[in-house]
Amino acid sequence: MKNSARMVIAAAVLSTPALAQTGDLARGERDFRACAPCHSLEPDRNMSGPSLAGLWGRTAGRLPSFDRFSEALKASGIIWDDRSLDAWMTDPDRMVPDNEMPFNGIKDDRVRAGLLAYLKEATKPGAQPPQTAGGPMGGMMGGGGRVPDLKAVEPSMQVQAITHCRDTYRVTTSDGKTRAFWERNLRLKTDSSKDGPRSGAPALVSAGMMGDRADVIFAAPAEISKAIEGRC
Ligand code: HEC
Repeated sequence: MKNSARMVIAAAVLSTPALAQTGDLARGERDFRACAPCHSLEPDRNMSGPSLAGLWGRTAGRLPSFDRFSEALKASGIIWDDRSLDAWMTDPDRMVPDNEMPFNGIKDDRVRAGLLAYLKEATKPGAQPPQTAGGPMGGMMGGGGRVPDLKAVEPSMQVQAITHCRDTYRVTTSDGKTRAFWERNLRLKTDSSKDGPRSGAPALVSAGMMGDRADVIFAAPAEISKAIEGRC
């Protein structure tokens, strides 16, 4: 039942060029989920990978606000356009050996075409990520990956105190709760970007699926050991 409904929709989409394009964009927006954990579409909002805003026409490896390009990408001389991006998405290692993007590539031509169509719109200067599907899901993933703004977190994420005793960290948050973590399950991190926490106000962010792991994210490295009291 569900499948046949999908086939009817697919047939309708394929039969009208305008809709076919909308369909590609919607699919591309959805498939951008493969990239969004590492790439935002907002200018200079860099994550593990560089922001993709303004990508078309950019020289590879040259975004000034991104500090972690590989020598290989910097030296590649690639200008990003439809063709070079298609080759990069197909097999980054083949196009630029020794690049440092941890991504295997997308072998399906149709998936790449949809992603390219979406990215071309969504990375245009001044672009709002396109509202594609029009339905309730339209644009939901728009804007690319986003990390939560750690200056505006709920009390259960605001760290008040951290103690360390033998192999255990205990983290007390503003809602009055204290959670205990095996020391190898609590990671101490920093975020100095505008999404990072205020100085002296680290945030507790759960990590992983099991519920036994979390990150405490500080504004700067110097805050970390000062915030942890050795006490049993
Ligand atoms: C796990 C993280 C990760 C994922 C997933 C990922 N990327 Fe990347 N991407 C990176 C990193 C890191 C770099 C920098 C690589 C280097 O310098 O060698 C990069 C570089 C790029 C660049 C070059 C940008 C520039 O300014 O030269 C493009 C384009 C790109 N990625 C597109 C994508 C697309 C499209 C996807 C999804 C299909 C994707 N990436 C998935 C981490 C990622």
